[in-house]
Amino acid sequence: MRPSAPAIAVAATREELSAEQCRRAGDVGLVMTMGALHTGHESLIAAARGQHATVVVSVFVNPTQFGAEEDFDGYPRRLADDVARCACAGADVVFAPTASEVYRGNPQVTVDPGPLGEELEGAARPGHFAGVLTVVHKLLHIVPGVRAAYFGEKDYQQLTLVRRMCHDLDLAPQIVGCPTVRDPDGLALSSRNAYLSPDERRRALALPRALRAGAAHREATDVLGAARQALDGIDVDYLELRSPDLSPPPAAGPARLLAAVRIGRTRLLDNVAVDVTRKEF
Ligand code: PAJ
Repeated sequence: MRPSAPAIAVAATREELSAEQCRRAGDVGLVMTMGALHTGHESLIAAARGQHATVVVSVFVNPTQFGAEEDFDGYPRRLADDVARCACAGADVVFAPTASEVYRGNPQVTVDPGPLGEELEGAARPGHFAGVLTVVHKLLHIVPGVRAAYFGEKDYQQLTLVRRMCHDLDLAPQIVGCPTVRDPDGLALSSRNAYLSPDERRRALALPRALRAGAAHREATDVLGAARQALDGIDVDYLELRSPDLSPPPAAGPARLLAAVRIGRTRLLDNVAVDVTRKEF
């Protein structure tokens, strides 16, 4: 006999969510996702599980963060599988609302991500971070009792902007960043990896290889030079070295190396921590 999956509640509306939460202790850890869950998402659930009485996972493919030409319609949707993964990873509640449940009509007020929202990912995807921050702000309030929300370093600019929003708008929940989970060959797990053909997946390995090559150096021009060389022949959207808060890079100290590339029709992002030192002459 197969072992039965642990019990988990699924709520589709604010009312169902509130009813579910009333039966549980406060102190909620929230993991926001767009579904098509993989081990990266599960690592966020595991991190939350150790810290909170109740772990809620939202599964919502947020239309407002996709551009008109982007993959909103084709984005993988498999709620039954996602619920089973959430249960096994230790979540208590899945919140899977419709767009009209989240947006209720035609909202006029949104979160402005500020100048960082126009750089890096924001330069390639106008309006993306306004859509992300608006839905993150909403979910932090729709889900009752959130003490902390968990985000992956995989989407480093998103994590940075969510932190910035909570600081600048005095939002109470703590934002916890979790390390990027990778396949054994180094490729960062992403729901969009499913779009890659076997040949494209092989070519995609240039991305983690380039970041590793860059991170092996200490001087900023060497970091960027080594990474650029490893991306030879790849369609690079950006490759940048920045401070950990994504302001211009430091002369010395902790930094972040970030890149986005296009492999066929798929856009992939990745980033790593780098320690740069001032070059001594
Ligand atoms: P999604 O791409 O589903 O990612 C949900 C969360 O999982 C994000 O915090 C993301 O950084 C994290 N994640 C994805 N891949 C990861 C990996 N390989 N290792 C660790 N964490 C990983 O990001 C979004 O959804 C949306 O923008 C959302 C925040 C839900 C707002 O709609």
